[in-house]
Order: sequence, then structure tokens, then C-alpha cells
Amino acid sequence: MKITIIGTGYVGLVTGACLAEFGHQITCMDKDESKISSLLNGEIPIYEPGLADLVQKNVQEGRLAFTTNLEDSVGGAAAVFIAVGTPSSRRGDGYADLTYIYAAAKELALHLKGYTIVIDKSTVPVGTARQVARLIREANPEADFDMVSNPEFLREGAAIADFQRPDRVVVGAESEKAQGVMKEIYDPLYLLSTPFVFTDLESAELIKYASNAFLSIKISFINEMANLCEQVGADVVDLAKGIGLDGRIGAKFLHPGPGFGGSCFPKDTVALLRIAQENGVSARSVEAAVEINAAQKAGMVKKIRDVLGGDLAGKTIGVLGLTFKPETDDLRDSPSLSILPPLHEKGATIQVHDPQGMDEASKIFPEFNYVGNSYEAATGADVLVLMTEWNQYRALDLDKIKSLMNQPVFVDLRNVYSPEKMRELGFTYVSVGRR
Ligand code: UDX
Repeated sequence: MKITIIGTGYVGLVTGACLAEFGHQITCMDKDESKISSLLNGEIPIYEPGLADLVQKNVQEGRLAFTTNLEDSVGGAAAVFIAVGTPSSRRGDGYADLTYIYAAAKELALHLKGYTIVIDKSTVPVGTARQVARLIREANPEADFDMVSNPEFLREGAAIADFQRPDRVVVGAESEKAQGVMKEIYDPLYLLSTPFVFTDLESAELIKYASNAFLSIKISFINEMANLCEQVGADVVDLAKGIGLDGRIGAKFLHPGPGFGGSCFPKDTVALLRIAQENGVSARSVEAAVEINAAQKAGMVKKIRDVLGGDLAGKTIGVLGLTFKPETDDLRDSPSLSILPPLHEKGATIQVHDPQGMDEASKIFPEFNYVGNSYEAATGADVLVLMTEWNQYRALDLDKIKSLMNQPVFVDLRNVYSPEKMRELGFTYVSVGRR
């Protein structure tokens, strides 16, 4: 099937490459000339494991093309995905900014030829798909189309695997015909008997927000339990295992840490609160998750300050990891962005390493020292903070680390190391939720 994807960001590019891999004829369209030209040169503007190879393979096999031309790419397609950005609005009030979605809808409306389904892939407030359909009908009353909501559940760093082996495919569709086309689009998954949830537009849109909000609540819950464990001398890793083995709870997303970050959870939880507020209902569980998350990040500043005896002036803090999670170059809403500046403002020198995030970070924080590896981050440090659990930080030569540091103090915000082992090695070791 000929399919066009509008938007070549995280979601658009992964969707396009994976649907091409399914055997469809894909055109990825973006208004940004520079993005399209770098893609045509085989350069991928984002760090997503496996994406570069998948794009290159499908371009070579002639199933994936890139263009800035909306007219041709929409006119020839049986399905058009809208995968443009829906950032938090610049007003900072938590509303999703739908400017790009509405602009795409008005433009593509003029170029639809023959029956086409228009599929909203971006994360959007409930009711957006119906609004997009209205805009298309207004712009082109003759358009023969159906509107579909098909939210994505892609984790950064695992996006391709999550697309190719999803837990479920959610489809909000207005007609049997549109449902039929969606089954055809995801045919390889249908054959794998991947569960499909066929529902209405509003439910599909809300499923996306509710999924991310629930995962955020899980993380904030385990972070609160971690703080309680520290006070009562319990171990949160054992607690997470003990509750996670209950099938009704599930073991995933019960890892305590410095708080959740990224381009989704922080944005989607606040957007859901706005949707609830606009519709006159409360979402206090989500409110709590957001508040707990802010407190968790602030708590990490205190944890680091306390282990340095309360005085940060003149201290050197080595930091391992800046990105909001491993296997990504994404710094958006990363906990490091709100944990490190207060430490620096109180007089500490910050020397950081991150496998992928330093280019971006050096634009935001020129005042930090960026170093080439973990051991340089440890050199002369009064404390070494493990912020993001990149694999390369999981098997450090701890004797070497200790010999390089000014004093052997290790703050492990991802519970990567064992408290007993670290103490045997002579470290003052602090982690999240453990004795
Ligand atoms: C998330 C959702 O998982 C995905 O389904 C959705 O489509 C987009 O948002 P992503 O934001 O890429 O994906 O990363 P994820 O792996 O979910 O982690 C989000 C944040 O939660 C990270 O900061 C991570 O460090 C944190 N986290 C995750 C925890 O602190 N503890 C956990 O147990 C899991």
C-alpha cells in the first residue's frame, strides 16, 4: 500500500522505516528542507539504535523515499499519517501545541485523491482527530476520507522493537472501511496475532494519555516507597520485586531513580491534567505523580549536598550520564537539567560524561566541564554521581575510580551497584531506597 507520513521526527521516521520494512511503499514528507536533504544523504538526525540501518536498507530496496512535496506525496497515497510534533505549548501552561497538526490537516486536505484514510499518530488531546476531520472537510468538501487515531507507544532507545513487536495496536476509526485499511497496514502484526483494540476516536486518544499517566504514577509510587525505605531501613529493590511478582501489579516500571523525564511523561501527564480540568473533572492521582516527580528531583539535590556535608562551595562533582534514559541523545526534561544547576549555583564544579548527550548539553550548560569518559569524570571529584544507567557505567573499574577521586564518595541514583560491595571497596555509597 502507498502510505505517506507527514513529519520526520522520532515518531514519523520510525513509523515510516518500520512500515517500509513491513513491505509498504512509504513516502516520508517534511517541510524542513535541511532535514529531508540530510535524510536523502543517509544521515539520521536522531540517535535511535537500529534506525539508520533500517532506513538505509529500505531506501536501497526502493520502499522508502523522502520529499518536501506534500501535493504529490498525499495525492498518491491510500493512507496519510500525521506524525508532526505536539510540543507543550510555548505558553508553558501544559497545553499541547496543535499548530503543526492543524496546519498539516489544512494543507493535506487540498491534495487528497480518491478514498484515503488520514491517521493521527501524534499524541494529541482528546477530540483533536475529530477537529482535524472538520478542518479537512472545510478545506475540501469533496474529500473522500475517513479519520483514524492510531497512537504510538514507542520508547526512545527501543522504538523499532516497540513498533515491530507492540503489546497492542490501538485504532480509533469511524468506519468498517477504515478499520479494514488499518488491518492491511499492520498486516504483518495481524498475522502475529498482535492484539488490536478497535474503538472510537476519543477513546483511542485518551488511551495514549492514560497509558503514559499510569506508567508515571507507577514510577512516582516506587520513588515514594524508596524514600520510605530509606527511613525505615528497608530495601526498595526487594520491595519492588515483592510487589511486582503480583500479576496485577507487574514488575516493570518499578525502578526508583531521580524522577522520570523525557519528551513524553512530563508533557503527557500535564496535558492530561489540562484535559481533565477543561472537562471539569479531577485527575488527582496524575497530579500527585507530577508533584512527586518534582520533589524526587529536588530530593536528589539534597542527597548529593548531604553526602558532601552540606557545603558545596569549591567541591568537584563528577557526573555519569545526562540524558533522561540510556540509548538516547534526548535531554528533554532530563532530571539532570534540574539537579545539576542548583549544585553549580552553590559553588560546585560539575564535570560530566554522557555517551550521546554532551553536544546538546554543552549548548544548554556551557559552564559545565565535559570530559571524555567515566574515569575523567571521577578524576579529582569529591563525589561521583551516576545519573543515567548507560551500560558502560555498569561495570566500572571501581578500584581505579576510587584512586582517581579526591574522596571515595559514590551517589548511585539508579541503584546500579550493590551497597555491600561498594562499602567493602571503601566507598561512602548512597543510592535510592536502600540501606
Ligand atoms: C515513554 C513510554 O514508555 C512510551 O510507551 C511512550 O510512547 C513514550 O513515553 P520514553 O519516554 O521513551 O517512553 O521512556 P521510558 O523508558 O518510558 O522512561 C521514561 C522515564 O521514566 C525515563 O526518565 C526513565 O528513566 C524513567 N523510568 C522508567 C524510571 O524512573 N523508572 C522506571 O522503572 C522506568
